[in-house]
Amino acid sequence: MTYYPAVEQTKYLLDESQLPRRWYNVAADMPNPARPVLHPGTGQPVGPDDLAPLFPMELIMQEVSQDAEIAIPDEILDLYTLWRPTPLYRARRLESAIGTRSRIFYKYEGVSPPGSHKPNTAVAQAFYNKREGRTRLSTETGAGQWGSALAFACKLIGLECKVYMVRISYDQKPFRRSMIHAWGAEIVASPSPDTQCGRAILDEHPDTPGSLGIAISEAVEDAAGRDDTSYSLGSVLNHVLLHQTIIGQEALAQMEHAGAFPDVVIGCVGGGSNFAGLAFPFVREKIGGRDIDILACEPAACPTLTRGLYAYDFGDTSKLTPLVAMHTLGHDFVPAPIHAGGLRYHGVAPLISQLVNDELIRAEAYLQNDCFEAAVQFAGSEGIIPAPESSHAILGAIRNAHQADEEGVERTILFNLSGHGHFDMAAYDNFFAGRLEDVALDEAEMARALQAIEGLPAPV
Ligand SMILES: Cc1ncc(COP(=O)(O)O)c(C=O)c1O
Repeated sequence: MTYYPAVEQTKYLLDESQLPRRWYNVAADMPNPARPVLHPGTGQPVGPDDLAPLFPMELIMQEVSQDAEIAIPDEILDLYTLWRPTPLYRARRLESAIGTRSRIFYKYEGVSPPGSHKPNTAVAQAFYNKREGRTRLSTETGAGQWGSALAFACKLIGLECKVYMVRISYDQKPFRRSMIHAWGAEIVASPSPDTQCGRAILDEHPDTPGSLGIAISEAVEDAAGRDDTSYSLGSVLNHVLLHQTIIGQEALAQMEHAGAFPDVVIGCVGGGSNFAGLAFPFVREKIGGRDIDILACEPAACPTLTRGLYAYDFGDTSKLTPLVAMHTLGHDFVPAPIHAGGLRYHGVAPLISQLVNDELIRAEAYLQNDCFEAAVQFAGSEGIIPAPESSHAILGAIRNAHQADEEGVERTILFNLSGHGHFDMAAYDNFFAGRLEDVALDEAEMARALQAIEGLPAPV
């Protein structure tokens, strides 16, 4: 047999035996800790017992852990091998298409069965819940990626699952709904008549497109009202970001195989989990003295990190969650119905907010037509049709490469391609037909939405 001589390598692959055995906990290395989560009634930090009605104890312990590394149970590693290690690509064809002298690499998380990074934490959360005797999980989903990932994980592990899907995505993405069905979960559009807070919002705003903040309220209410049910969140919380760090640890090993190290690490940010997953192991390197620019990309329609206030706020619209210190646009802010549904969240992970405050991470905000243009350029050179969320990271990488060319330098750029866009083709059709609106959040709406946090404690 003769083999193709891969003179210019495209993919850097790890063997299953090279799967990282531990998650990385950035909290152990941060120069300043994230502010404690507060009980809204007492204003005091919440303890494990406050969270026990919603989460299994193992996840609560991970939430507050200061250990730098946490062992991944064998059962979870075994499930990870269904799609991990994921490939790292050198985007040579994109580099040629945009005519840059910089090197661009991307980690591709769309190879998981549901099509994104979300199962990295879904299988872990389902596993710990099952081990502690829960039989059912409730959750929210924006674009449908998280809902399908949790439905997939619950099916594999043997739990029931109920998904509250943001109304606009429920209408725009019928095939995500079908996937959730195929994996045996129950799904309703949010706001729904199934919960008290859903009914209250429907009474006041019957035509609302919904938001992640509303869907979280419904899922939390569902779990709080039943002993057999835990709440499961697909982003924002420390333990979710922790589980995603498998991405960046693999990427570190793969970059080494490629004989390269990134000058720039980029990811899109909704709640922050895929960004953190790739970036936190590189934040560790940065804290250790390496010079790395770490860039979070978000939509201009929901510019949490670039324009939001750093404040204590609720994680959901109906104020059922504890108070979290984070960059926020206000818990009743309903972002414009852009197609990157997974990025329509009023807040962001507290760990990321703190790292932005400490200038270890910076952020930029982009308009959706520019993101789709970047996505189409990427698809035309690398072949993969990206999720609208991931297109923000692609645009970040392309702009960064152009900047390097203008400055006359060559950079090594690494970004996270968090998912494929196979169920987002209606969004691409709208883009091709020129029907996508470019919405940048206006000042008046931002000021209105931020009134919702007046009177809440300020982070000190
Ligand atoms: C493909 C994809 N990327 C990114 C995100 C944003 O979430 P996070 O910021 O937690 O990665 C989502 C959320 O649904 C998603 O589906």
